[in-house]
Amino acid sequence: MIVDFENKWSWGKGVDIICDGYGVLSVDFEDGVRWGYIKGLAVHPSKQRQGLGTRLMEAAEQIIREQGFDEAQLWVEEEHKWQKEWYERLGYKVIMQKDGYFKMRKLL
Ligand SMILES: CC(C)(COP(=O)(O)OP(=O)(O)OC[C@H]1O[C@@H](n2cnc3c(N)ncnc32)[C@H](O)[C@@H]1OP(=O)(O)O)[C@@H](O)C(=O)NCCC(=O)NCCS
Repeated sequence: MIVDFENKWSWGKGVDIICDGYGVLSVDFEDGVRWGYIKGLAVHPSKQRQGLGTRLMEAAEQIIREQGFDEAQLWVEEEHKWQKEWYERLGYKVIMQKDGYFKMRKLL
């Protein structure tokens, strides 16, 4: 594991992660699909740009792999230009554009 989690717990098929008390992220799994959805990513403003978001993304991808899947997907708002570019730097590619959002995915 790349991240030492302060808390990690799950219910249903989803997993919520809190990292160092300042970052959160959820991974969701739906019936009948072979990927995990990354959502609800946020890092406290006082702790941004210190690598926490990247660590959370890496942890989420590891959780998806541990579930036996090899693809991560997420949605990002079109107007959030730098976030899209940030995900692209992490290896995500746009696969759909709909209702003001980009759907992105990464093969793990
Ligand atoms: C998106 C988010 C989770 C990134 O977390 P983070 O811990 O700051 O990310 P990292 O430290 O791993 O990555 C930092 C890089 O992201 C980019 N970045 C972060 N904040 C940025 C900003 N305000 N403007 C432009 N680029 C930014 C930069 O490339 C930065 O690298 P740099 O500091 O060397 O320039 C965090 O900014 C956040 O919580 N934002 C508000 C909620 C949100 O937008 N969630 C995602 C919805 S799609």
